[in-house]
Amino acid sequence: MAIEIELDDITPNNIGVLRRINSVVLPTSYSDSWYKDTLTVGELAKFAFFNEIPVGAIRCSLETPPSHKEETKIYIMTLAVLSPYREYGIGTKLLEHIIEQAKKMYVKEVYCHVWTENTDALEWYNRRGFEQGELVKGYYKKMDPARDAYIVHKKVE
Ligand SMILES: CC(C)(COP(=O)(O)OP(=O)(O)OC[C@H]1O[C@@H](n2cnc3c(N)ncnc32)[C@H](O)[C@@H]1OP(=O)(O)O)[C@@H](O)C(=O)NCCC(=O)NCCS
Repeated sequence: MAIEIELDDITPNNIGVLRRINSVVLPTSYSDSWYKDTLTVGELAKFAFFNEIPVGAIRCSLETPPSHKEETKIYIMTLAVLSPYREYGIGTKLLEHIIEQAKKMYVKEVYCHVWTENTDALEWYNRRGFEQGELVKGYYKKMDPARDAYIVHKKVE
């Protein structure tokens, strides 16, 4: 059977699935208000479906700086794909969707925090044109023993 990977919206009816995916894949937990806010970010939050099964998701926020001298950025808050469904291009498809949105919105930078120990993700972003930036000490309060994160960022042309 041919594999079909499609992206679709996160809605009040399926937001519980996002909770499940994030809780299985990610070491951080997110509050009820975070999930509620997810429903307000439009194209900056998407599910990925593998033959109609929701197996991954991305959730970003638009960061508008207080001063007009700084640029608006898109921040990737979560990107998660269930492990049996990795290496099918799902993560790339979710990320490409966000880069496309950045272009449409004239946003020049997309960035996220990656745990320093998560070398797979650091390399994964690196192969997709992200640069490793600042080290943020103690970013992951509940991780043990390493709590630091790198900011990885990509310029959008
Ligand atoms: C990082 C993560 C989102 C990547 O998801 P994914 O769906 O496996 O990503 P992709 O399939 O697009 O890419 C993974 C590899 O599979 C390969 N791949 C892509 N499509 C493929 C296909 N159709 N067939 C075989 N391999 C494929 C890619 O080449 C890629 O390798 P590369 O980086 O050397 O190019 C996933 O591993 C994950 O959820 N990790 C845990 C959470 C995490 O670390 N999140 C990121 C930090 S916030």
